[in-house]
Amino acid sequence: MSERSTAITIEDAQIRVTELEIRWGDGHESRFHAIWLRHQCECSFCGSSLNGVRGIRVRDIPEMVKPEDVTVGPDEIEVVWSHDGHRSRYQAEWLRNHCYSGTERQARRHRPTVWDSLLTGSVPIADFAKVETNPAMRLEMLEAVCDYGICRIADAPTTAEDGGRLVALVGAQRQTNHGSFELSAKDEVDNVGDTSVALDPHVDEPYRLSAIGITVFQVLQPAQGGGDSTLVDGFEVARRLREDAPEAFQLLAKTPITCHRVEGTQNVGRSGRRYASRLPVIRLDSDGEVVGVRLNERQIAPLDIDAALVEPYYRALRRILELAYDPDLTITLKLGAGDGLLFNNQRVLHGRTGFGADQSPKRSVLTRSVDLDDFYSTIRVLKSQLGETGPATVYGQGMAG
Ligand SMILES: [Fe+2]
Ligand SMILES: [Zn+2]
Repeated sequence: MSERSTAITIEDAQIRVTELEIRWGDGHESRFHAIWLRHQCECSFCGSSLNGVRGIRVRDIPEMVKPEDVTVGPDEIEVVWSHDGHRSRYQAEWLRNHCYSGTERQARRHRPTVWDSLLTGSVPIADFAKVETNPAMRLEMLEAVCDYGICRIADAPTTAEDGGRLVALVGAQRQTNHGSFELSAKDEVDNVGDTSVALDPHVDEPYRLSAIGITVFQVLQPAQGGGDSTLVDGFEVARRLREDAPEAFQLLAKTPITCHRVEGTQNVGRSGRRYASRLPVIRLDSDGEVVGVRLNERQIAPLDIDAALVEPYYRALRRILELAYDPDLTITLKLGAGDGLLFNNQRVLHGRTGFGADQSPKRSVLTRSVDLDDFYSTIRVLKSQLGETGPATVYGQGMAG
């Protein structure tokens, strides 16, 4: 028997008052609370949480619901409930995939690979023609973005008309006020991306409550004499800050600040837009692990925080910016025509070196974005199409735990 089939074979199942205890072929033990089991019954009456068509209601389940009887088959368990005689069946594989023991929950968490400048030379790279035609290679590309927060793309289309082909491999494009923004050295500038000055590493659009997820960046016409892309892993920035300056880390993780953006009519037409979001620079999950950074010093609004925190907050900002701009953490990529980049804008900071303003033809790059929801959805769909079984990976988690 394979390791996987041993893991989903029920050796023994026992009722312990209000819990069902299962011992599996690989020796692992799971405990399922009766209320959890009753709520997740997927019979034709109870329905399924996958499509949200459900007959069962939490308040209809007695708080002290108990199994009356349990029948164990080789790959399925049937439970009869004492309060109403309802019968629920659970597939062994489904139960194992949803076991909520500490070890299984840890195993399901996706673990990112945190990096610094040493990643230069081994940045994950995908060939556009291959990822467009081969679903397994497309999945590999997207998983590289999960692991590293970035993936380089080679030989992507160089015309704006074909610009949509890369983003389509990542997921449904998010429509923002920018649409498919074409950055170039424009004459009338309301977006710093349209200039030729160097840009320090930053995340885009921190003024949105719902932050940009994956940025899809494509070079149609590279800059001459500069314009190299710089990338910094925000997770490494946060990791070093937590180690070197724990108070600064806590302040940036606990104190929300406003980032804002007013857009005139030249980019968005009509009467322009006014965005503002109040969130912390470092986002933590319930385990205190870093799950995102939101650092863009150009868009920090006048601080509106407790007066006693203003000076400490600026000290903390100085510390995190020193790390974010540290060459030790930065990789620099020279992208030519047809080169692209996918990066997680909630994790990886990007910037660029300056370049000559008067070149002809002018530098031209496309940026589009895909929400993390749609990015992870594409990964799950591909995994399912490729026949991957086992528990669902939990994405968007912190770096340790
Ligand atoms: Fe940017
Ligand atoms: Zn049911």
